[in-house]
Amino acid sequence: MLSEVIERVREASDIVTIIGERVPLKKQGKNYTGLCPFHQEKTPSFTVSPEKQLFFCFGCQVGGDVFKFVELWEKTDFKGALEILAERAGIPLQEQDPHEQKRYRERQTLYKILALAARFYHHILLNLAPGEEGRNYCQQRGIERETIKKFMLGYAPPGWSNLIQFFSKRGYDAEQLIKTGLALPGKAGGYYDRFRSRLIFPIWDQRGRVVAFGGRVLDNSQPKYLNSPETTIYSKGKNLYGLHLAAGAIRELGWVLVVEGYLDALAVHQYGWPNVVASLGTALTYDQAGLLSRHCRRILIAYDADTAGQEATLRGFRLLKEAGCQVSVVPLPQGSDPDSYLREKGATAFGQLLENALPLVEYRLQMLQDQVDLSTLEGKMQATNSLVPLLVDIDHQVEREVLVKKIAGVLEVSEASLWAEIRQYRARRGKRGQERDRIPGKRNNIDQDFHNQPIKPKVKSAYLRAQEALLTFCLLDQGAREIIVEEVSWQQFTAGAHRNLARAVWLAHGEGQCTPAELLARVDDSETKALLSRLSLQDEHFLEQKEKSIKDCLVAVKKQQLLEEKKVLQEQIISLEREGKSTEKANLLIELIEEKQKQLHRLE
Ligand code: UTP
Ligand code: MN
Repeated sequence: MLSEVIERVREASDIVTIIGERVPLKKQGKNYTGLCPFHQEKTPSFTVSPEKQLFFCFGCQVGGDVFKFVELWEKTDFKGALEILAERAGIPLQEQDPHEQKRYRERQTLYKILALAARFYHHILLNLAPGEEGRNYCQQRGIERETIKKFMLGYAPPGWSNLIQFFSKRGYDAEQLIKTGLALPGKAGGYYDRFRSRLIFPIWDQRGRVVAFGGRVLDNSQPKYLNSPETTIYSKGKNLYGLHLAAGAIRELGWVLVVEGYLDALAVHQYGWPNVVASLGTALTYDQAGLLSRHCRRILIAYDADTAGQEATLRGFRLLKEAGCQVSVVPLPQGSDPDSYLREKGATAFGQLLENALPLVEYRLQMLQDQVDLSTLEGKMQATNSLVPLLVDIDHQVEREVLVKKIAGVLEVSEASLWAEIRQYRARRGKRGQERDRIPGKRNNIDQDFHNQPIKPKVKSAYLRAQEALLTFCLLDQGAREIIVEEVSWQQFTAGAHRNLARAVWLAHGEGQCTPAELLARVDDSETKALLSRLSLQDEHFLEQKEKSIKDCLVAVKKQQLLEEKKVLQEQIISLEREGKSTEKANLLIELIEEKQKQLHRLE
């Protein structure tokens, strides 16, 4: 990717501003501190440096530059972070490839039209006379004004060309509206609005851009909902309704409630659970499961309890389990959805229902007990077939054992035969290849990076401490860096993050460009980035008595080097002796060792 653009975006994205928009920060000396958004803590150890444009958490050891922060925050990769920051800064990416450039501009136009359309419908619903019917409908459904605003609901008035006219006044032609799915070509020529006399639900992507619409009729006519078609910026199965509104609450609460419909999401949110998203259809797709699993691991599902599509629904749940999530099902009574349940029974009862959410297998067992005659052979087989795949997915041995016992009891079969079924199923699945590896959200590298951040050992060897101190001096003080770079080489640092960082410092110094940004561009693994951030954010007190400290550290590093060289020489002598080879060579080695020994003495 074009490093020039990356640098432009970096310059336009002040780290304190970007992080400050998402995490409350307090100025403290030269830096800003706050509660780390990436782990639970009560005292702030999350530090942001405006001067160095870096962040670091002294609690959980994550750190890096503004891109790294956005990566972690938005659960995306570097490219995603770059796009987000570039867009915020108004810097077009991929300006070199004319094709890409064209597509990029087209997408931007789509976003613009959709955002404008959302405002058009919303304004009508909130304020204008033609929105009266829509307002009445919302009132009748108990949708509060605040909810209307939060979800930016709108109303498409009756008439064939309200939207087309609105846009033509603003210089957009109907062809452009067709690309967004908002207008359709008429059979006898001309164009007409897709949405008419409907309550409008804007659908956003994860980043809060309007990408599509759903429109509900206000009466019982069919079809109940019209939806935008798939476009270059909208793919139904990859999106979750309301995710951008829910993301913060999901992060805070650590769990998400998944519902089916627009109105379910609205109601649940309005009644006090902002951590809700809707899948807008029946089964959860593969991509949606991946998307969810990146936000949290605990997932509650509150789908309509009607039996149609239950198999498909269960497939969606299994995808989540496979993506490493803990899935429970909220036992809604037959015939009700979260919206109707909340309206009838209220928030307290709904909260109770959430408390009673059942792990997937148990939910399934309960459903089977209600629907299938388990006293017949056929019933037992059917139940086994639908439960075994779920049992296989349970990672915890004890949990599985308890469930097998329970299920065997209910089905009145032996535990041994259930275990046999499980083994068989696993063998069959094994043959079909590693299905699990394809799950998009399954511990992808972002997560891995994040959760497996190596926590530094508490006690470091004196030698490692010396290395770190030298690197810190290099980062904080140019004068110190000049001395250190002269005295030791980067190869003298222990392999791993320390050596990577030393290498970057030495090279950048050689080119006279040793800024944190320059260094960040030279290191690409997370561990080294975190090390760089941590050391760069050391307090200035560190520099007190620097001359003496630097000398001590240099001695320690050189000493280590000599000791290692000495060890190599000694090993060579031993092997020479063993092979009975020339004493001449051995004598030379012994001389060399003595020389090392002298050097060591001098150092001490
Ligand atoms: P529901 O029929 O459960 O609708 O469909 P709902 O959201 O609960 O709406 P109300 O309460 O009847 O007003 C669930 C979801 O399935 C999609 C919509 O996303 C809807 O929210 N759906 C349903 C359609 O896309 N088209 C349809 O015709 C029906
Ligand atoms: Mn409903």
